[in-house]
Amino acid sequence: MKKRKVLASAAVCCLCAQMLCACGEQEAEKTDKIYVGVACYNQSDTFLGEMLECFKDRMNNFESSDLQAIVTIRDAAGLQRTQNDQVKELIDAGCNVLCVNLVDRADPSEIIDLARDNDVPIIFFNREPVAEDLQQWDQLYYVGADARESGVMQGELAADAIRTDSRIDRNKDGKIQYVVLEGEPGHQDAIIRTEDAVDTLKNEGIRLEKLSYGIANWNRAQAQNRMQQLIGQYQNDIELVLANNDDMALGAIDAYVKLNRTEAGMPVFFGIDGTDVGLKAVRDSKLAGTVYNDKEGQAEAMAKLAAAIVTGEGMDEIKFENEKYIYLPYSKVTKDNVGRYLGEE
Ligand code: BGC
Ligand code: CA
Repeated sequence: MKKRKVLASAAVCCLCAQMLCACGEQEAEKTDKIYVGVACYNQSDTFLGEMLECFKDRMNNFESSDLQAIVTIRDAAGLQRTQNDQVKELIDAGCNVLCVNLVDRADPSEIIDLARDNDVPIIFFNREPVAEDLQQWDQLYYVGADARESGVMQGELAADAIRTDSRIDRNKDGKIQYVVLEGEPGHQDAIIRTEDAVDTLKNEGIRLEKLSYGIANWNRAQAQNRMQQLIGQYQNDIELVLANNDDMALGAIDAYVKLNRTEAGMPVFFGIDGTDVGLKAVRDSKLAGTVYNDKEGQAEAMAKLAAAIVTGEGMDEIKFENEKYIYLPYSKVTKDNVGRYLGEE
C-alpha cells in the first residue's frame, strides 16, 4: 500500500521534473534533507558509544544553508525484536537512509524487508551480516573493519612483548600460559580475533599453553567476574591475557586490582579498540598494547555514504570492496605511539 503511494508520488515528481525541464530549467530536483535513522544494538557498549559520537559530528559537517542533516539514534538494549520495531518507527518518521548495528547479525531479514518495501537504503555497521543477506537487495551496504587483521595485529604485539621482556614467562618454563576473554559468541570479531591472535603468536615461534577462556560479551564487569574465577582456578599461573576488546582487558585488570595483586604477580594484558579508557591504560602501562579500531574512519565513511545515497552526489568517489563493503584498516598501539592516538603529539 505504502509502496504504491511512494511510487505514485514518484511518478508525479517525474512528471513535474519533466515539465520543468521542458520549460528550460535544466537543474535536477535536489534533496534538501538527509535524515539518518540509526539503530544501535546497545548504546552502553563503550566502542559504539564513542563511534556514534563521531558519526553525529561528521553528519553535522554536511549541514549547509540548503541541506539539513538530522540523525536519530535508537538503542535496542540487546533485543532484536525491539530493534525491528525501532527500525519501523524510524522509517515511519521519514528517515531516508538507515544505519543499522544489528543485535543479531544472523537475523536481518525483517529489517531488510521493511526497508526495501519503503525504499530506504541500509548501511549496516560494526556487526556484519552474512554475505547472502547483504545480497538480498542492491541498496544494502556494510561499513566496518576486517576482524582477521585485528587478531593478527594483537598476536604480533604480544609476540613482540614476549620476545623483548623475559619476565613475562614468569615460571621460566619456556612457554606462555594464557587465557582469552571473548566477546559475544557469534560476533565476527570474537571468533576470528581469538583464532588469529593465537595463530599469529604460534607462527611467530612463541610456545603457548592455553589455560582457559571466558566469554564476557564485550563487557568490563562480566570480564572482571570471569577473570576472578580464572584467577581462583589458576592462581599465579596466568602470564598473558588476550582480550577481544579493551573493555574486557580492563575488566581483567580490575579483577587483579581488586585482589590487591602487585605488578610482579600480574600477567600482561592486550586489548583491541583503542577506546578513550583503553588508550589511557596503554599510556599508563596497564595495558601492554591495543589495536586501534578506527572509529573516526568508520564514522566518516558511514556519513559520506549516507549523504551520497540520499543526495545522489559523491557515490563514484567511494571505494567499495565487492560493491557493498567498506573496511577501515586497524593499527597497532603501544606506549611508544599512544600519544598520537590521544591527540597529545
Ligand atoms: C568492538 C567491541 C564492541 C563490538 C560491538 C567490536 O568491533 O571491538 O568493543 O563491543 O564491536 O559489536
Ligand atoms: Ca611460562
